Amino acid sequence: MRHACFAFFGVAILLLSHGAHAEVKPMMKAVVAHEYGPPDVLKFEEVPRPEPQDDEALVRVITSSVNPADPLTLSGKYAKEFGTHLPLIPGYDIAGIVEKTGANISKLKVGDAVYGYPTFGGGWADYVTVKEWEVAAKPKSLNFVEAAAVPMGALTAWQSLVDIAKLQPGQTILIHGGSGGVGSFAIQIAKARGAHVIATASTANQDLLKQLGADVAVDYTKTKFEDVAKDVDAVLDPVGKETLARSYGVLKKGGIVMCLVALPDRAELQKRGIHGAAISAHPDTADLTQIARLIDAGKIKPIVTQVLPLSEAIAAQQQAATHHTRGKVVLRIADEPKG
Ligand SMILES: NC(=O)c1ccc[n+]([C@@H]2O[C@H](COP(=O)([O-])OP(=O)(O)OC[C@H]3O[C@@H](n4cnc5c(N)ncnc54)[C@H](OP(=O)(O)O)[C@@H]3O)[C@@H](O)[C@H]2O)c1
Repeated sequence: MRHACFAFFGVAILLLSHGAHAEVKPMMKAVVAHEYGPPDVLKFEEVPRPEPQDDEALVRVITSSVNPADPLTLSGKYAKEFGTHLPLIPGYDIAGIVEKTGANISKLKVGDAVYGYPTFGGGWADYVTVKEWEVAAKPKSLNFVEAAAVPMGALTAWQSLVDIAKLQPGQTILIHGGSGGVGSFAIQIAKARGAHVIATASTANQDLLKQLGADVAVDYTKTKFEDVAKDVDAVLDPVGKETLARSYGVLKKGGIVMCLVALPDRAELQKRGIHGAAISAHPDTADLTQIARLIDAGKIKPIVTQVLPLSEAIAAQQQAATHHTRGKVVLRIADEPKG
């Protein structure tokens, strides 16, 4: 005889099978998609808490945030490209506390405050499992809301400007979308490296570009960026299409265009004697640690414009899909830990 006793909203589900085995499975709240589609396929559910493998840690998520990659993942676009699969829990940014560690975890300890980017998402839940290299110690000067606004945006900006462009003091960079999740970090990282920054955004975000440290703020709805930016050393382009096509011409010979959404045109690069890179950001403890150092030194800070409860996940995904987010939208999953 089978018995099943489900304890919704509790911590455990008790399953008795043939009266022989009793297994207590811890449960958690999560935002889950069982099919690919628009944001409203997301369901707020109780699901089994993941168990960390030997090379993983279980993190109690305090906050996560919202990225344009979330609606793209949900649409199924990354299923073939990156091997995402259903059911899926969105959330590439997390800040939380290490709850449990696998046998081969050597650096993380239970109780550590961490922030990071789980490669396959999963942050929109009470718990997520991470590899050690996907997280780092949370910046001490940030609360958990601020910390969750950092990982994917700042890693993308860091890996583009520092690892790929090797931006030097005195060089000039054009940063498109300077008010967004990536651009807002890119401006600050470029300034911290002593570069001259020209940044673009719409009229409503001109104040933010200046606040972030841009030397020149361009309102792309009124001014052609080519009229302002000439002979630059690097371009960071999170927009693509026409913006990318028009960006080749503002680079000096030997300069580099880094696009977050497309492959730069090889013929254009060759014709102009410039370099191009299609950026694919990745989690990296060393990069997250360097970013945390800059944050704690007061050189860069996240711009959090909205904090939503996890139950507002659909609205959060709809906002991410607009490509007009100012700074970051953060999802609160648990209360800020005391102390
Ligand atoms: N390849 C990778 O590894 C990687 C990593 C992260 C992100 N991405 C991609 O990069 C893109 C940006 O990500 P995000 O997190 O920064 O997005 P976001 O937070 O939505 O920000 C986009 C920003 O772009 C600005 N913008 C929109 N149209 C523009 C235009 N024509 N010219 C200049 N600025 C414009 C918006 O400002 P206004 O509202 O003022 O227009 C907004 O602040 C997304 O498509 C995302 O999927 C790729």
